Amino acid sequence: MDYITLEKIVKEREKPSRFEHSLGVVEVSEVLARRFRLDVELSRMIGIFHDYNRYMDGDDMLSFCRKRGIAIQKEEEENPMLLHGAVAAWYFPRITNNWNEKAQLAIRHHTLASRDMGVLGAVLYIADYSEKGRRHIDDNDRLVIWGKANLEEMVLDVIRREEEYSYSINREIAKVTLDCKAFLLEGGKFAH
Ligand SMILES: [Fe+2]
Ligand SMILES: [Fe+2]
Repeated sequence: MDYITLEKIVKEREKPSRFEHSLGVVEVSEVLARRFRLDVELSRMIGIFHDYNRYMDGDDMLSFCRKRGIAIQKEEEENPMLLHGAVAAWYFPRITNNWNEKAQLAIRHHTLASRDMGVLGAVLYIADYSEKGRRHIDDNDRLVIWGKANLEEMVLDVIRREEEYSYSINREIAKVTLDCKAFLLEGGKFAH
């Protein structure tokens, strides 16, 4: 399946505002994929699809994942909406017939980030946070994030912003996110 076909499928399912967000994610993903010489078409497909299951009920997502033996993290157990990445990762190959594991890992980890999300996951994580429709940051913040030299530094910057936000609302930061941060601080690189 190509991007255009997938975009039509997603458009039918998502509310206009969510679909706008998805298009914004595609736009940033494409720029980053070109800049770092990654698979542009695949990163666009990942971007348009990543929130495909955002409308599922939290409890349904929990049982969906349990039934299929998908590993659930503590923070996801407490806040099942976070599992929309895991559910979309399961659907992606079954809808697109593209069984590239890297695409599934990218979608799986877009909510909390992970050292295992790969370069395509890094692109999605950054794009999801910084696309132009996002109102929690301004254009100056966007330039700071996009101005970093590589994907690892960009992800680190986004994690720090997420951390700051979490402290401000008294929410604990997920273990997988902190683990990703530690990995990057030690000079870890995302897999290609
Ligand atoms: Fe999402
Ligand atoms: Fe999103």
